[in-house]
This record gives sequence, C-alpha cells and structure tokens, in this order.
Amino acid sequence: METDSDIKTTPRGFHCTLCNVNLPNMPSLEQHVKGKKHKTLSSVRTTRKTQEELSLFVSGIKPEISQTDISEYFEQFGPLSDVIMDKDKGVFAIVQFSETDSVQAALSCVEHQMKGLKLRVKPREKKEFKLIDKKTKAPQQVFDRLKPQLCQVVSVDAQMQHVVQQFQLGENEKKARSLLVQLLQEVFVEFFPDSQILPFGSSVNTFGIHNCDLDLFLDLENTKVFQARAKTTTEQAGEGMSDDGRSEDSILSDIDLSTASPAEVLDLVAAILRRCVPSVYKVHVVSSARLPVVKFHHRKLNLQADITINNRLAVRNTRFLQLCSGREDRLRPLVYTIRYWAKQKQLAGNLGGAGPLLNNYALTLLIIFFLQNCEPAVLPSVEKLKDMACEEEECVIEGWNCTFPSQPIAVPPSKNTQDLCSLLAGFFSFYAKFDFASSVISVREGRALPITDYLSKNKEEEAMQEEKPTHTHHHSPKLGPLNLLDPFELTHNVAGNLNERSQRSFQRECQEADKYCHCLQYQRKSTKGKSWGLVRLFAPHGDVPHAKTEQLTISIPFKLASLPEVLRNQLHTAGDGFRLLWFQKVCSAVEEVFQSVLRCHLAPSSNAVFGEDSAVNAAEEMETSAASLNTSTNSCDSIESQNEALGTAAVGGKRALSSGSDESVSPRGKKARLSKRGKPESPHWICALEHVVWAGRRKVRRELIKDTDSRPEGSCIEIESQVTAHIIEKEPELKEPVEFKVQPQVVGETESTKAVLKFEPTCDKTGVFQDFFHFLEAFLPKMVETVLEKQAGSA
Ligand code: UTP
Repeated sequence: METDSDIKTTPRGFHCTLCNVNLPNMPSLEQHVKGKKHKTLSSVRTTRKTQEELSLFVSGIKPEISQTDISEYFEQFGPLSDVIMDKDKGVFAIVQFSETDSVQAALSCVEHQMKGLKLRVKPREKKEFKLIDKKTKAPQQVFDRLKPQLCQVVSVDAQMQHVVQQFQLGENEKKARSLLVQLLQEVFVEFFPDSQILPFGSSVNTFGIHNCDLDLFLDLENTKVFQARAKTTTEQAGEGMSDDGRSEDSILSDIDLSTASPAEVLDLVAAILRRCVPSVYKVHVVSSARLPVVKFHHRKLNLQADITINNRLAVRNTRFLQLCSGREDRLRPLVYTIRYWAKQKQLAGNLGGAGPLLNNYALTLLIIFFLQNCEPAVLPSVEKLKDMACEEEECVIEGWNCTFPSQPIAVPPSKNTQDLCSLLAGFFSFYAKFDFASSVISVREGRALPITDYLSKNKEEEAMQEEKPTHTHHHSPKLGPLNLLDPFELTHNVAGNLNERSQRSFQRECQEADKYCHCLQYQRKSTKGKSWGLVRLFAPHGDVPHAKTEQLTISIPFKLASLPEVLRNQLHTAGDGFRLLWFQKVCSAVEEVFQSVLRCHLAPSSNAVFGEDSAVNAAEEMETSAASLNTSTNSCDSIESQNEALGTAAVGGKRALSSGSDESVSPRGKKARLSKRGKPESPHWICALEHVVWAGRRKVRRELIKDTDSRPEGSCIEIESQVTAHIIEKEPELKEPVEFKVQPQVVGETESTKAVLKFEPTCDKTGVFQDFFHFLEAFLPKMVETVLEKQAGSA
C-alpha cells in the first residue's frame, strides 16, 4: 500500500497518522484509504514535497529589491515556476524552479550578488507535512493572547471584567446582526404575511461572544390567522384573489400552515433563504432535532444562523436572562468567565449542537441557580419573580406560566455584597459538593428537589392529567446524571443530553477549581510575573494533570420510580433493608452484564461472597469510611492462576449471589453477625476480557437490527449479547487479555443510595482498559437497569 507508512497498528485497530483518525478494522481502513480526505491529503503532501525540492530560500534582501528583480536574477539558472516574497518586510523570498537541475545550478554558484547586495541562498527546509487542526489551534491562540493581559490586571474582579471586554459582542457586530434580522423580516413578510422574525439566545441575551450563532424564531401565528381569513374570503368570493389582493400563486397557496408539518414549513423557509437573501449559503433543514431547524451561513457577516418555528418559549427565556443580567451586574462577568472556563475544560459547547456536553443555556441556568442559593441570595427564584410582576405582564406559553416583570427595576436589589472573586469561588465550591444523583435542580423554585419527591409528584400529575385531560399534554422530563429543569417548561431537562461521564467531568473540574480557589495564587497577583488568578483556572483541559488518585468508578443510582413494579414491591416489603436488597440485585445484574452480555471471564476473589452478608459488609465499609475504596495491589497474575487459587470459593460466591432470597435480608441480624466475625475484605470480582467488545458496537447493533434474516429475537439483553458474539467472531483477539478488578459498594442515605463500582486494571499490557472503561460508563448503568427489569419479570 502506497500509504503504508501513514498507517500504524494500534491495540484497537489502526491509526492513520496523515489524517489523524482511528480505524477499528481492516474494511474501514481500506475504505478510509480510498476516501476523499485521505486522497486529497496524500496529493497535497506530494505537491508540497515536490515544491520543497524545487525551491530555494533566499535571504539578505533589502526593500528596494522587487519580486521582478529576483525573478530576472534567478532565471539565469533555469525556468522559474514561482517567486514568493515575504509580504511584510520583504527580507526573504522563496524561489521555485521548474526543474531540479536549475536548483543544483543555483546552489553550486559560490556567490549571489544583486544591486551590490550579497544574497544568502540555501535549500528549502524540509518540513514534515502535518494536518493543522483549526479547531484546536484557534482556541490556543486566544488563550495565549489572553494570558499576559490577565496577568497584568490587579485583581480577580478586574480579570473577570477583562474577560467580558475581550469576548463580548461589539456594538458593530450587534448592529450588523440587527440589520440582517431586519432584512430577513422584510423578505419573510413578503411570503408569510404578518409573520415576525425574533432573535433569541446569545445574540441578544447579553452573554453573546464574537461569532456566536444567531438564533431566530419565525413566528407564523399571525400568518396562520391571515391564511385562515384569506381562505374563507376566497371561498366566499370564488377563485382568484384574496381579500388584500394578493395573488393566489403566492408561496403561501402551496401550503396550509394549520396542517403542514414543521419540516414542510422549514423546507419552504430554506427555499426562500436560498433564493431571496443575498450572501446566504450552506442552507439546510435539520428535521431530526428536538426542535426542527433551518441552518445557514451568512458569508459577509461570517456567522452561522438557525431559524426555528416552534420556539416561543426560547424567546421568553431569553427575556428572562436579560432581566437577570439587567438586575444583577455581577451576572455577566460570572457567565463569561464560567463559560470560558467550561470551554477550556471541554465541559460545554457541543459541536453542531449535538453531543453529551452542557450547552451554554444550561450552564447559564446553573450559574443562576447558584446565585439563587447564595446567602443572602443574589437572584430571586422564578416563582418569586412571578409574584413581582403586574397583571399586564402575565404570560402563559404552551400552558407554561412564563410571568415575570418586564423591567429590572421591578425586582428589589440583592442584599448580597460578595465580590466577583468570592462568587466565582463559591460557584465551584457549590457544584463540587452538589449531590447530582439525588437532586433535581429547580431554577423555578430556586432549590434542589429530592429526586424521589419529584418523581412521585410527577406521577401524581400524570395521573391527574389522564383523569382530566387538558389540551396541552406535558411529557415527563428525560432524567439523567444531571437534572436541571427549564425555569418555564418544567418537564424539560436542559441537561438531559449529558451522560454519566460528562456530568462527572463537570463535577471533577469544579472540585479542582474549588481546590485552586483556596490557594493564594488565585487571589493574589504574582509579583514575579507568574500566572495567577483566572489564568491558571483557564488552563486547557489536559494541561493540568489530574491527581493520580482519580478513581475509576461507575455509579448506579437508586431510582425507585424507574424500577420494575415487582422489585419495587419487594423493596417495600424489605423495610429498612431495602437498600441492601437493592444492592444485591444490582450486583447480580452487574455480574450478568459482564458474563452473559460482554463475555468476560469472571471470578470473585476468595474473600468475595456476594450474598447478603457481603452487601452488609460493603455497606458498612462504605458508611464508616468513604475513603475505604482502598486499592489492593493486585499483581498481573493470569486469570487461570487466580481461579486456581480461588478454588471452591469462586463457585460459592456465584451461588450466593444468585440465590439471595428476599426474606433472608435482615440487616440487623446480619450486622450482629458481622461484628462478631470482624471486618472481612470488601467483595470484588476479578475479570478478564479477550476482545475489544466495545469497538464498533453501534454499527454491529444497527446491522443486526436492520438485517431481518438474522434479526435477534427477544430482549435488549439478547441483542447486546449477539452484538458481542458478532464482534468476537469478526475481530481478532487482544494480544493479551485485559484483567481488572471490580469492587462494588453501596453508599448514601435513603434518597441518595447508589451502588458504586470501583474499577482497577490489574493487567493492561495493550493499553485499552481506559477505552473499555469509558464505554462501560454509559453502557453498564443502562444494561443493569434492563437486567433488573428482566430479573423482576422472571421472578
Ligand atoms: P444555547 O445553548 O446555544 O445558548 O441556546 P447561547 O447562549 O445562545 O449560546 P451559543 O453562543 O449560541 O452557544 C440558545 C438559546 O436556545 C434556547 C435558549 O433561549 C437559549 O438562550 N434554549 C436552549 C432553550 O430554550 N432550551 C434549551 O434546552 C436550550
């Protein structure tokens, strides 16, 4: 293969160094090498190499020497294909010949003189061809520029104000955006009479940064009224003209807005943009988004814009953000600083709008929620704001109460006098300790709701809705590792896209920042010109090594409402012992996922007896000391030798795990027994994995489901087992199996009970454990939930 040197074998497949991509297997590698990107880069590299070989680097030039002078001089050695002078100072040039012989001829000339000047001529430096990743280069440049500026100002407060100055939208940018909105308004009203185009989001919410998206809402409510009226008039007057004389072949006659789907309307919007708005390009409709949208670019303004049609709530919540920032001057510096911090730490900003990171709206709400919870509060709850509004300000959208005062003056100022520096530190400290697993964040109420209360309240409301259906039906929110309710659309979790990993990264970065904010370097300007204050806080993700002690843990929270009914009843009967019973069930489910679904070889250690006793042990250990997640220094023994050493205990362990009967759970009795026996080592599994069962899973799953002949029958667990079987069949074995230890423990109080699984690689010669662990972070909690359902169903 011509590109052999670009392809490196990795434990997970292949890596193309030219294009900087990983390929999981041979077919995808072959496809990649034949693909457009790889071919283009290969040909660019070849051209560059030839250019380098045919060029000379000429220095010692003075400004009075022109490009033509250089060309005329070097043509004596052979025909030239190009001469490039450095633009700014004109002190060097690159002279490119058409033939290699000419290069040699020029190099063998001992002295080059022109207009009395001695020129230095040497071969062009050979540079390794590298793909420049614009996505990482630009942010680095911004940070490099910002660093010295921040170091010079006098305080953290001043640094935060500086961040605002650097990033905020300039007056001209705002003006240009508003002119574009005006132009769009003029165009759209021609096609959709009485329609309105309204900006929302960062362009207008006072938190916009240079080049941020322009979010627009095309309000067609009045157009619908217009259309209905025109229809009636036309029917009465016969075919031809509508009441205001508009021709029937207007674009509106193609579509009935009262019945058309959002995608149909957006197709029309896209067509209008393409045909009637100058400088607009890359127009496309995304109908699969939560809110279907038309996306486009504006060349002259160099911005990306989105138009939605069912988004009245977003215009209103933008007004809410404007109100908060109008009332509280400290909000903008906090939002700009925290948004930049989150971007640097790769916690926020999903590319293309989709992904598992926080979006800016969610991050802003987290800041507002923190300010509502300061002592004394910096901002009031939305519920309190509602009470401050007057009658004319009442506003209900899609059944949601969106009332708040229209003017900041109507909101009494806060009694909180903390400076920006301590509020920022407070934000990190607040979320460093926040119990995300058992809370639902309500900006509406300005407090964290216990998740169980929230779920039961929601259930009651659903039941009431079934009894007394209203015209607006509200779905339950999508709960996940971070639950942050929209202040108005109370069933929308604005952080519902986060996965376990991104939630944990957010909290871990808050913990790191919290620690740093306690250091002198945070608050005090360095007299030696060293980085201090925000500069260290803004260090990009990966620059600051995380403490080596970072735990590889996966939590499975106790979510009563999402458990199958049979299990809920069993837990109910278990009384105080419910958490131990639940923990046992989770352990058994975890074991099934490892063994049956992922085909790991599994052996509990000699001390591990996963019956109710071990659950009690684990619980006791966890309760007495959270730090008891002690790392045992397991050597890299093979799984066979582990098994040998385990002998019958492994079998015993398995039996105990699967046979834990409900009535046998009696925490008090078990605790008594436990204290007599003393404290045994925490139970754990020793696992070995021979295949990269996580690589390409989604694709295999998709193919399995699509392929009707081999479509796996039955539950999701069987499908997942088949996916594993397919991967094992197709992919080569790992050169060395990955071995790891899993220690389950139960932690927390009733509301926040969770099973914490601590992972420790004991043998990872191929270096793939980290990838496997990342896969497990999302896969394991979901599968455990499914297995619990299945087990309850077959009980
Ligand atoms: P963004 O998250 O894009 O925020 O949501 P932003 O402030 O505009 O930041 P960037 O610069 O574009 O990334 C844009 C708007 O969409 C609405 C809100 O009005 C928000 O201001 N939105 C977003 C919602 O109503 N709900 C959501 O879950 C997300």
